[in-house]
Amino acid sequence: MSDAPNNLESILTSELSRADAVSIGRLLVRVWPKPGVTPEDRADIMQTDRGDATVPAGLESRSIVIRDGDKVIGHASAFVRTVGTTAGDMMISALGSVCTDPDYRGQRLGERLVREAWRWVDEGRVPFSLFQTSQRAKQFYDKFGCLLVENQIIDSTCDDPTRCPFKDDHIVRYPGSGREWPSGTIDLRGRGY
Ligand SMILES: CC(C)(COP(=O)(O)OP(=O)(O)OC[C@H]1O[C@@H](n2cnc3c(N)ncnc32)[C@H](O)[C@@H]1OP(=O)(O)O)[C@@H](O)C(=O)NCCC(=O)NCCS
Repeated sequence: MSDAPNNLESILTSELSRADAVSIGRLLVRVWPKPGVTPEDRADIMQTDRGDATVPAGLESRSIVIRDGDKVIGHASAFVRTVGTTAGDMMISALGSVCTDPDYRGQRLGERLVREAWRWVDEGRVPFSLFQTSQRAKQFYDKFGCLLVENQIIDSTCDDPTRCPFKDDHIVRYPGSGREWPSGTIDLRGRGY
């Protein structure tokens, strides 16, 4: 195992250089290898703003990054989406591509990444973070009091609006308590992340 460095950067998606995006892409390809998917393919997504077209100042889409030298060893994407609920529109903080380099795990890098990604929520600027996760990683999120979301999730902008736009086993929210979570269908109004 390698020692974890102490840096953390929050880089606006609009200012993410190609070199940094490819560096993030290399980590993503290592953690989630998929046939035919290259670091450059992943970099393209990292350089795409997947948040709302306009957001309040300070809530612009970003990549949160931890490096060791030139190498990205930890990453999380955070961006704001306005979703539809039965109680009206709700701004959520989307969390995606959370991963740490296998050689650096268990050193609180994952915790530092998600805590930074949830800062908008902790500061009360956005009520919840909403994201998908696997069965294994869910235990990581349990540590932070995250809760499973049982609502039906749809994307009214796609061909089959009843299909859940997320692919992973679990949809999770942060925080899990202390704020009222809406019941009923949630419309992501865009692709899953
Ligand atoms: C999940 C992941 C980001 C955790 O990164 P990490 O740097 O090892 O996490 P941390 O060291 O900050 O761990 C914080 C706490 O979570 C626990 N934890 C970390 N990963 C865990 C897992 N997969 N299952 C259960 N607990 C886990 C740690 O033991 C630690 O617990 P503690 O507070 O009791 O000591 C990393 O394992 C990873 O990249 N996994 C593959 C990609 C993935 O599944 N990402 C999440 C997609 S939503």
